[in-house]
Formats: sequence, structure tokens, C-alpha cells
Amino acid sequence: MNAYTCDGLPRYVLGIDTSCDDTGVGIVELISSELAPDGVRVRANCIWTQTVHAQYGGVMPELASREHVERIDGVMADALAEAGLQVSDIGAVAATSGPGLVGALLVGLMYGKGLAQALDVPFYAAHHLEGHIFAAASEDNLEAPYLALVVSGGHTHLFDVPEVGTYILVGATRDDAAGEAFDKIARLAGLGYPGGPAIAEAALRGDATAVPFKEPLQGQKAFEFSFSGLKTAALLAHKAGAKPDDLAASFQRAAVHVLVKTTRRAAEAYGRQTVVVSGGVAANTALREAFNQTNLRVVFPGKGLNTDNGAMIALAGAAALRAGRSPSPLEAGATAYAPLANG
Ligand code: KG4
Ligand code: ZN
Repeated sequence: MNAYTCDGLPRYVLGIDTSCDDTGVGIVELISSELAPDGVRVRANCIWTQTVHAQYGGVMPELASREHVERIDGVMADALAEAGLQVSDIGAVAATSGPGLVGALLVGLMYGKGLAQALDVPFYAAHHLEGHIFAAASEDNLEAPYLALVVSGGHTHLFDVPEVGTYILVGATRDDAAGEAFDKIARLAGLGYPGGPAIAEAALRGDATAVPFKEPLQGQKAFEFSFSGLKTAALLAHKAGAKPDDLAASFQRAAVHVLVKTTRRAAEAYGRQTVVVSGGVAANTALREAFNQTNLRVVFPGKGLNTDNGAMIALAGAAALRAGRSPSPLEAGATAYAPLANG
């Protein structure tokens, strides 16, 4: 039987993310006691990362959907085993409804709705970016206000979060996402896929001053990002014979510099001392070190919560429950394009 906290909220929330090429199922536990009134703990975070796309150097949507269908049952069973729970213990279900690849999203969304209906528990359609933000914001039970930088393969978005659930868009990329630039430059330099971890590893061996990169949008008053110029500069340097390790180190330094600089300016302009940095690129050690050297309080997702995962969606579901949000209607559909800004 599903358990409840002393506030009458479901104790275990299951989250599903199938927005791209990772099949993720996570379970979080809501803890409410006098000692930890708003505690939440990740009990399971199981991910099947699809490797079928590596041969194409990018995600093939139809293959992603098919593999989600094949894997989701197994990932779900793994998550329950990791948490030491039965499916009947789950008291609420959340699943990503967008943004993402529609065919891929539909697999997790339909699975989540079916599960919630079978268990007769509330269902929450979750926003993928809100999940990324909660992956970090749940560390230390961080409370708004804060600034949130989401840096992933599909997004480079900066939001002001004055209160839970309100997202004001401060700036975004004009072209490629940061992770997309890591992936494309890694492919060009023959470093493998996904490119983020490959660039980070090669950068350890390279000279970050070997290839000069011009800072994108230098002197701007706004808080926008642009990575296509860095990509073109990398292509030209590669053609001119730059060593892959040097290219990786120099590009990483340029990307980290601009992400930290723009976020710092925005934090100052918006009067925020706390910044949440999340999404796949937040796993980058050089980025973390650079942010940690600022005078801001910077919060990153915990281990295994940077790249796409189900636990972050369970955390978003848990936050919706705590905020008293009504469950989503079962007809909630999957959307490829879904802006988060609502403020
Ligand atoms: O959040 P995520 O799993 O998927 C999206 O929602 O897009 O992010 C994946 C992105 C990929 O572009 C990947 O290359 C990048 O995150 N990434 C990294 C690192 N680990 C993953 N980028 C830089 N450094 C890393 N260590
Ligand atoms: Zn993501």
C-alpha cells in the first residue's frame, strides 16, 4: 500500500524521462518531520543510455523511441529494486511531457499515465527544464529566489526564479546550445560521442592557450549566448592543423568563460546571490571550478543528476505536490517545443 508523509502527501514519487536518448526512471522520498520539514531524498535513479546513436554522431529519433519502448519496463524494475520498494508503494507519478523528441516523450508519458491510472494515484506532466533545475535546487533544499542556468545538449537558458514555479527568461542562446557545441566540436576533432565528456577528457592533455577563440557577443548589454561562432572558429583551426587536445582545451576554456561571465553579470543585474547550474554540461569539471571561484553561491546537481534522468522529474513532481498543484489531466500531450518562462 502506498505510504503518506505526516502532511498527508504521498511518500514515494516516481519520475520518468524519455525526452531524448536516455530512458530514466527515478524514485524520490518525501520526508516530513519536525527535523526535516521539507526534506526529499533520491531513493533510486536508473538510466539506460542508448548507444545505438553513436554510429550516427547524433540522436536518431525513431531509434530512440523504439529503444525506450524496449527498455522502460526493465529500467522501472531496476528503480523499484534500487529503492527496495514494490510498485504499490508509489504514491504519485511524474513524466516529462516536453520539450523533447515527441515520439520518445510519448513512450514515458503514456507509461507514466498508465501506471498512475493503474495505481489510482496522482499524475504530473513535468517540464524537462524544470526537472533539470530541481535536480540542483533539491540539493540542500534550496529555496527561491535564485538564478538558474540550464546548460544541456538542447538548451542554454538563464532564468530568474523569484519564487517556486515562476520562471522569468533572462537570456538564452541565439543559435547552438552549449552541449551541442561540445558534441559538434568533438565530432569534428574525432574525439567521439557524446562530445562533452570527450572534450573534457582531451582538454586535460591539451594547451588551452593554443587556439585563440574570440569571445562571442563581447560587450553586449543583454544576457544572451552564442556558440556558432566558436564552432566555426574550431572548424577553421581544425583545418589549419590544430591538435585535437589543444582544440578541446581551448574551446572548453572559451565556453566556460562566456557561461560564467554572462551568468555573473545577470546575477548582479537581478540582485541574486545564488545560482543553480544544471543540465548535462553542468557535469563539466572546468565549468564547476570556474563557478566555484566566483563570489556567488553556486549549486550543482548531485552525482548522476546532471544529464537526463528520471529522479529529476520525480523531484519536479515532488515540488508540485508540496506546492499543492493540481495533478495534470490524463489528456496532457507531448510537446516538442515548450517554453518554461511564465513570469
Ligand atoms: O541534459 P542532457 O543529458 O540532455 C539534454 O537535455 O540535452 O545533456 C547532454 C549534453 C550533451 O551535449 C553532452 O555532450 C553534454 O551534455 N555533457 C557535457 C559533459 N557531460 C555531458 N558537456 C561538457 N562536459 C561534460 N563533462
Ligand atoms: Zn536534458
